[in-house]
Amino acid sequence: MQKDNFKWNRKDLLGTYDLSKEEIIFLLDTAKSMEEVLNRDVKKVPTLRGKSCVTLFYEPSTRTRTSFELAGKTRSADTINISVSASSAVKGETILDSVKNIEAMSVDCVIIRHNNSGVPHFIARNTKLAVINAGDGSHEHPSQALLDLLTIRDYKGTIEGLNIAIVGDILHSRVARSNIFALKKLNNNVNLVGPKTFVPKDFEKFGANVFHNLEEGLSGVDVVMVLRLQKERMGKCFYPTEREYAKFFSVNRQSIKYAKEDAIIMHPGPVNRGLEISSDVLDGEKSVVLAQVTRGVAVRMAVLYTLLSGGRFEDSN
Ligand code: CP
Repeated sequence: MQKDNFKWNRKDLLGTYDLSKEEIIFLLDTAKSMEEVLNRDVKKVPTLRGKSCVTLFYEPSTRTRTSFELAGKTRSADTINISVSASSAVKGETILDSVKNIEAMSVDCVIIRHNNSGVPHFIARNTKLAVINAGDGSHEHPSQALLDLLTIRDYKGTIEGLNIAIVGDILHSRVARSNIFALKKLNNNVNLVGPKTFVPKDFEKFGANVFHNLEEGLSGVDVVMVLRLQKERMGKCFYPTEREYAKFFSVNRQSIKYAKEDAIIMHPGPVNRGLEISSDVLDGEKSVVLAQVTRGVAVRMAVLYTLLSGGRFEDSN
């Protein structure tokens, strides 16, 4: 199933900022065509047999690393997780030296998460390997945005022309940036909602609307995407107390009434229950949080397949 005249030309997936609308839709369609395999008794197809991927995570992860590993294994790629805390990084090896050594073992792809923005981009310029950004500092997390878009498209029937609110710690969030870039390319209206410390006016330069009031920001939206307060990236105090933050900005039974009746509630995880979102909303009927996680495997299969097969779409099942 080659997409009409479309050719994938990238070695790496570093962010959504650089992706065209056609590239985003291509990855979503590829993921859609691949997700069926996850419902089979034998969740394995041979399309990446002989290929190998290494995950190199300098920050913790539950969802991203596991789903990349599952995605690779489902497509028969050999996937190897390097535990950075048990690697030669603790002896002082630089990340570029680590990647050069991985490259010397004839690996095809490296999936990197790092606390510093721009590290995957630097590595991509200095290796022949395909590089996937699995989250760099506060910068980008492209596979998360793609799985978010796929979830929205599945639940809303479209991924264009919607009203979408992103609520919470936008300032420190790579998920927010990757989603804003991708959603704006697909002509969505994006509201960024939170206190001034988390949602500076400056974000309007990305074509988003800034709100410091939850009722105004959620008014009439189709999608509410709640973000975690990233305490590990806060060098100073960004809100007086957690109780006060929750009072004004928690997405809960009361505040979701501002959104459309059929709005869906999203969160990339991990969640601070009772802080940015209440447990009853997180576990409630409007929540698609675990559906996002399920789509993460399909999206990561699509990303691996696209980068490692040169974007051929025809035998992707
Ligand atoms: N959403 C996300 O990136 O989760 P992990 O940190 O568990 O990978």
